[in-house]
Amino acid sequence: MKDHTAIVTGGAAGIGHAITTELARRGTRVLAVDIDAEAGKALAAMDPDRIAFMEGDISKEEVARAAVARAVSTFGKLTGLVNNAHASRQKPLLELAPDDWALSFDTGFRGTLNFMKAAHPELLKTEGAIVNFGSGAALNGQPNQAAYAAAKEAIRGLSRVAANEWATDGIRINVVCPLALTEGVAKWKEAHPDQYDEIAAKVPLGRLGDPQKDIAPVVAFLLSDDSRYMTGQTLMADGGGTMLR
Ligand SMILES: NC(=O)c1ccc[n+]([C@@H]2O[C@H](COP(=O)([O-])OP(=O)(O)OC[C@H]3O[C@@H](n4cnc5c(N)ncnc54)[C@H](O)[C@@H]3O)[C@@H](O)[C@H]2O)c1
Repeated sequence: MKDHTAIVTGGAAGIGHAITTELARRGTRVLAVDIDAEAGKALAAMDPDRIAFMEGDISKEEVARAAVARAVSTFGKLTGLVNNAHASRQKPLLELAPDDWALSFDTGFRGTLNFMKAAHPELLKTEGAIVNFGSGAALNGQPNQAAYAAAKEAIRGLSRVAANEWATDGIRINVVCPLALTEGVAKWKEAHPDQYDEIAAKVPLGRLGDPQKDIAPVVAFLLSDDSRYMTGQTLMADGGGTMLR
């Protein structure tokens, strides 16, 4: 994917970190955008020729516009956008306060929308691709996830409409729902091995995914020409945990 360039939101940690480094390994030049400046700078230092970092809160429209301008000035063009970042708090539905709803919708839904709008003019020039993030927790209505699940399903609805509206622009939009053993989840697994085993046992493939080996390649596929006939789709990268029909 040497001719590709991409923006990855939330690239400093977890799945976003894996996507950024995996895309770079495949030759793509990537701008990672994250609020965590220390981790972001360490990420860029891993491969300065291919990875650039911009500190910013993705819920702000001006950050989205600045990121697209930075990607184009650094790489000359933009062919891909990965809307990975999403912050939320888990609580029972009746306990969710307005700021809990705002956090999930501002970072998840608004962040995704802001970056899609900001990137559209550049992706139009390159017939580029967008990958947005959903979640099995939203598809299955997992308890304590109301603010998160509602924002995730709003992202899927937005993605399907954009896939139809922007198809004639040559821009494809797909959604990935991952299940991954990130650094955060790995710490939790060490503290609660029995609970981890219980969750893993419900996954047909018997384990949570590896961000680098199991999730990032699916995102790379959706950004690449190998998926040129796919748009508006939701792909479950979750070991078979949810089987869409
Ligand atoms: N980990 C899983 O198993 C899982 C399951 C389903 C869906 N997802 C989705 O996959 C995506 C990545 O998940 P993860 O587990 O790697 O997340 P994570 O929490 O480990 O990492 C998120 C990154 O986003 C950054 N971030 C948070 N708020 C930000 C903001 N306002 N502006 C800029 N950056 C911000 C964080 O600093 C961090 O680097 C998310 O959309 C998440 O909802 C993950």
